[in-house]
Amino acid sequence: MPRSIRLLLIGDVHFPESEGRPEVDHRDAGVSERLSRIAAQSPFTRCLRAIIQFLKNQSPIEAILICGDLTSHGKLEPYKKCAERLVRALKEAGFLNKVHVTFGNHDIDRDSARSSPGSQFEQLADFWRSLGTDVLPYPHHKSIRATAEGGQTAVVYTVNSCLGCGEMRGLPKNIEKDIKAIFSKFEATATPEDAFSLLQEQLDTPLFDDADLSDMCEKVSGMAANELPVVLAHHNLLPQAITRIDIYTEVLNGGMVRGRLSSLGRPVVYVHGHIHSDPVEVVVNPAEQGGECVFISAPLFTKGFTVLDVHCSRAGSPIGLSVTRHELLEHGAVVPRPPIRIPISKRTGLRDSDPNYETVAAHLQERSTIKNIRLSMNERYPLMSEKDLSEIVCEGFWACRLDIMNLDQAPEKWHVSIKP
Ligand SMILES: [Fe+2]
Repeated sequence: MPRSIRLLLIGDVHFPESEGRPEVDHRDAGVSERLSRIAAQSPFTRCLRAIIQFLKNQSPIEAILICGDLTSHGKLEPYKKCAERLVRALKEAGFLNKVHVTFGNHDIDRDSARSSPGSQFEQLADFWRSLGTDVLPYPHHKSIRATAEGGQTAVVYTVNSCLGCGEMRGLPKNIEKDIKAIFSKFEATATPEDAFSLLQEQLDTPLFDDADLSDMCEKVSGMAANELPVVLAHHNLLPQAITRIDIYTEVLNGGMVRGRLSSLGRPVVYVHGHIHSDPVEVVVNPAEQGGECVFISAPLFTKGFTVLDVHCSRAGSPIGLSVTRHELLEHGAVVPRPPIRIPISKRTGLRDSDPNYETVAAHLQERSTIKNIRLSMNERYPLMSEKDLSEIVCEGFWACRLDIMNLDQAPEKWHVSIKP
């Protein structure tokens, strides 16, 4: 079957709210909470168990991307508890070395940000190091190669989109004197200093470090053509579909980042959380041959997870993505939804296609739809193996030159036709 790299995307956890009470329709006040907890798991426990089960049962996973917001109110203790539980479970299952994590705006300790800017990131990064894994992107982004058994490679760039979260915003200094004079009239209830400081607000203004981003883009430009860059950050770069009423709803330099990532002359995948829903969108830069950015949002942790399969050509180049949302149902079962398939080589064509592709295409050209391409091809090309044939047909599919019905099933069930 076609070669691929598999990545698991985990969205905002928001612990301890996700731990909460078990989801029980508790109508009998006479029955104890203890009994409820035995009868039903908390959403957090249920979801973590489903993820571990999935990791154990599936084909190899090359990377686990955790999109930030492990907690909700920027407090260190619940953040630590959440990280410890995730690490313990992933370590026991043997996947800790595959984990990548970024900061979420709700992870940022506001007091630390106010008293000592930068320390809010350092304390979380230090904590992950104490857990035995140096994952958080501070002070700079991290880049790690995720390589599948066949050598297919994605490079995961973990970046920090939360640099402005926790910054202070106040009144301009040149009006401080006048404002203080006004407040002095209210000294009965507060000192002028207290009143003035009340007008300050702590911001949630996400942004990227431009220099760090430039450094990352340089690395992406230098990557081999057969490697796929995957950027992990917390914030969305495209506006969310649901109307958002808030100040600073977007990353301050989000448009610049989006423009840069879609102008690198190659496909880039950008994985994020933050919006608690899971749209998948593609931005194509028509001025840049091959420049496109695929945005994949991970769902809220308690709603499930997303699997990203990066399909590669026989020569090893990434040619297509399958994004499969796995929905966690109330009773704990995980249901995979139909995959969203995104060709990523269509603009550059079959650059390194196997020459046998033209043979297959010519065979298809003579017919309408072939229901068992192996049998059909065997008549004329008995030496072409089933494996070679299915991989060649898949390359044609991801290059948007062939249609395949029943792609989820075994190759003998495929209905293959050439695109008009
Ligand atoms: Fe969140």
